[in-house]
Amino acid sequence: MSKSVEEILLQDDFNKEDIVRLLKSDKIERNKLYKKSAEIKSKYVGNLVHFRGLIEFSNVCEKDCLYCGIRKSNSDANRYNLSDEEIIGAAKFAYENRYGSVVLQGGELTNKSYVGRIENLLKEIKRVSNGELGITISLGEEDEATYKRWFDAGAHRYLLRIESSNEDLYYKIHPKDEMHNYQNRLECLKRLQRSGYQTGTGVMIGLPFQTYDDLANDILLMKELDIDMCGMGPYIEHTDTPLYEFKDTLMPLEERFNLTLKMIAILRIVMKDINIAAATALQAIDKIGREKAIKVGANIIMPNITPGKYRDDYALYQNKPCTDEEADDCANCLEARVNITGDSIGYGEWGDSNHFKRRTSK
Ligand code: 5AD
Ligand code: FES
Repeated sequence: MSKSVEEILLQDDFNKEDIVRLLKSDKIERNKLYKKSAEIKSKYVGNLVHFRGLIEFSNVCEKDCLYCGIRKSNSDANRYNLSDEEIIGAAKFAYENRYGSVVLQGGELTNKSYVGRIENLLKEIKRVSNGELGITISLGEEDEATYKRWFDAGAHRYLLRIESSNEDLYYKIHPKDEMHNYQNRLECLKRLQRSGYQTGTGVMIGLPFQTYDDLANDILLMKELDIDMCGMGPYIEHTDTPLYEFKDTLMPLEERFNLTLKMIAILRIVMKDINIAAATALQAIDKIGREKAIKVGANIIMPNITPGKYRDDYALYQNKPCTDEEADDCANCLEARVNITGDSIGYGEWGDSNHFKRRTSK
């Protein structure tokens, strides 16, 4: 006989079948899952949320992911590239408002002058913040020498979503060519770990062709890779992308939302002390989506501090929230938002992954 959700939740660890069962939990069962994940969060990371001020500095991208609104082939995307002054200005805002950390995110590029530009920006962000701002970067696939250069310049955390742990599915949502290679992406995660970064990955939830088994395997892969951080969110279709063709096969947005909360809760129980971000895409579906994620196990929020006039153009998916706000508005709004979850904000702190600290002190 198969196990009940209660029985599964009494265990210390979950196998694939357990995770699938938890993902399929009904309303009453899922509240039990959330109760347990909230307890684990409280015990292993505390009821403290850390900010990462998100600077989406450019939507120029060499890649062509089939789901992404800023893919190279989308000629309708309005391309922009912030100036160094605008990027440093945003970092200063984060520093002055005691966000503790920033994330630099942009479309994927690889060339010498780009690598050098990022290196200089990292050093400059460190300089203007007296070395106090923590820096996460999310700049895609690069060679090991580049990862090391950026690490030496001051970045200490890196986010690179694997997008899906199912290699077949990976090639249904990416073109199959040498620019989009699943094995290379996995290898990049290992490069990042070797280079000394706190390494984060994640997946999209509710993709066309994706199964419950795939999602369970996503969690098991994160465990196997021993990642320090995770950012995962619902897939949201974008009209100007090839994957839009499959929109009628998708589960409703609300279901994708609930499934994301379940994924966060399960991952929190399985990997106890990692950092888990409340993805902005959750807020595109539910106005208090990120707050709900914090309640069930997430401990990181990435307030957008990109200058407002560019926000509309970093449209990975549609209905992106807060594109008409400026960074100041977000600061006030977020304080109120975190307060309603009952957690506090770790102002001025890096909020590093406890998992990383434990992993590297062994
Ligand atoms: N829906 C949801 N998430 C998306 N991303 C890109 N396009 C979409 C979309 N249509 C996510 C990817 C990427 C991250 C920066 O944004 O997971 O890694
Ligand atoms: Fe830019 Fe996927 S489309 S990295």
